[in-house]
Amino acid sequence: MPAPPFFDPQPAPQGGLDAPATGRNREPILQVLTRVLPGAGMVLEIASGTGQHAAFFAQNLPHLTWQPTDLAPAHLDSITAWAHATGAVNLLPPLRLDVEAAAWPVPSADAVVNINMIHIAPWSACQALMRGAARVLPTGAVLYMYGPFMRDGRHTADSNAKFDARLRGEDSRWGVRDVADVEAAARAAGLRLVETVEMPANNLSLVFRRE
Ligand SMILES: C[S@@+](CC[C@H](N)C(=O)[O-])C[C@H]1O[C@@H](n2cnc3c(N)ncnc32)[C@H](O)[C@@H]1O
Repeated sequence: MPAPPFFDPQPAPQGGLDAPATGRNREPILQVLTRVLPGAGMVLEIASGTGQHAAFFAQNLPHLTWQPTDLAPAHLDSITAWAHATGAVNLLPPLRLDVEAAAWPVPSADAVVNINMIHIAPWSACQALMRGAARVLPTGAVLYMYGPFMRDGRHTADSNAKFDARLRGEDSRWGVRDVADVEAAARAAGLRLVETVEMPANNLSLVFRRE
């Protein structure tokens, strides 16, 4: 049987797309976000995908305004559908944002969130994320990242090694990134890694702060 595609959300009853992984990781991610995000302000989410995370986090963090974004038109439509289904008043309409674009449609934010993107994009997307986050964030503000990562040149689980091989086989520019490389890209842009949190299913949360 061929391996399933990496990100292939299917239509959900209310009109948006359904990515089942978001149902599994949203609670552990929310626990970290609740602790590290500011008490007020606007969170800029890069690569929101289906919008299920955006809807869930907006509902559970009502003191924050959530700005979802993505590159893909089908994902922007899905984010809109989930926003309508949820009815969260603090969830803004999605914006098209290519992380690699020289200018982002949002000039400033109080925090930036990016979940499961940099392994399924060229390395230049990670570098662009760091530069863009550094542009829009004030000093001390948080960039939160979540996903699978290597540590000290090694995979943290066999399943991540297999996933990495599949990613690289699909597109040689993709792959599970090493925390040290991500940290170096962040530092070059003016962001400092302040916390690494082990998450279920061999994923990590990385918390950066704008210097
Ligand atoms: C694996 S999905 C993750 C989506 C969502 N964050 C989640 O966890 O379900 C990766 C997402 O990154 C988006 N993406 C890829 N390249 C991008 C880019 N250059 N700028 C913005 N988004 C991008 C894709 O459209 C897709 O929605």
